[in-house]
Amino acid sequence: MIKPRKVVLVGDGAVGSSYAYAMMNRGLGEEFPIIDIVKNKVKGDVMDLEDAQVFTEPKHVYFGTYKDCKDADIVVITAGTPQKKGETRLALVSRNMHIVASIVKPVVQSGFKGIFVVSANPVDIITAAVQKLSGWPKNKVIGTGTSLDTTRLQVALGKKLHLNPQSINAYIMGEHGDSEFADLAEASAGNRPLLSMIKEAGISKDELTKLVAKVRNKAYYIINAKGATYYGVAEALTRICQAVLKNENTILPTDAPLNGEYGLKDVYIGSPTVINASGIAKVIQVPLNDQEETLMKKSAATLRKVAKKGMD
Ligand code: 2OP
Repeated sequence: MIKPRKVVLVGDGAVGSSYAYAMMNRGLGEEFPIIDIVKNKVKGDVMDLEDAQVFTEPKHVYFGTYKDCKDADIVVITAGTPQKKGETRLALVSRNMHIVASIVKPVVQSGFKGIFVVSANPVDIITAAVQKLSGWPKNKVIGTGTSLDTTRLQVALGKKLHLNPQSINAYIMGEHGDSEFADLAEASAGNRPLLSMIKEAGISKDELTKLVAKVRNKAYYIINAKGATYYGVAEALTRICQAVLKNENTILPTDAPLNGEYGLKDVYIGSPTVINASGIAKVIQVPLNDQEETLMKKSAATLRKVAKKGMD
């Protein structure tokens, strides 16, 4: 008998339940225990999602406990306080460090041997904390990093160039937050340099700078409009889990555990990585120009400073 693929979700807020729904719609995994301190929300979502499975694929969605992590393939952590209007992701560090510490301990105690996938913010710092607290090899802890920011860049450029965002090869790198930057020098579409396509489309440098700023601030606009962001990040999480469950070797801009790349060490930060069943199989070091490398280093310095504060 083939062992069902089990994915435990810890954190059944808006991001968590959107993620569970996305996984179900994509037909990924078979067993979904859901854990949250708000027990009634889990009970309600379990009943609601089990109705949805009749239209998708049979799934076993149930009220989980940490014991369910023992033989899980993946534990997804979305638990944590979300940003309020105007609040930065970095401002959440102390609160979410505490929450995540209370989760990682029982997960490890369960005998879990699989891969952690993390989206709680500030995700670069929380991912590093999950790795430290669990003692897991760095490649087995994956944070969503700049995957969502990268899709936001693809969407914005796709609209301007009248292209499917999936056809655009361009990455947002660095912190998932205010110090992130776009790697446009190397970006392409249809094997053509994106910067020349942008020029041909009559988009000025100033417009491009504004477009990147809008991408960087998109979460703030969404939070202002409806209080939270969840569909985008839920799909980013789902995409990472798909690459793990299907052993895909797909390049995704997640949180890369750097070990000398970009002249940086001991930091999780947004960069393209190869994701397969082992977790992060490889960090792809993209060539950065001097200005971009400075931005990467600044982003890493910001994360280090805030991570230290979060530990206090
Ligand atoms: C986002 O970028 C808030 O980190 C979340 O949508």
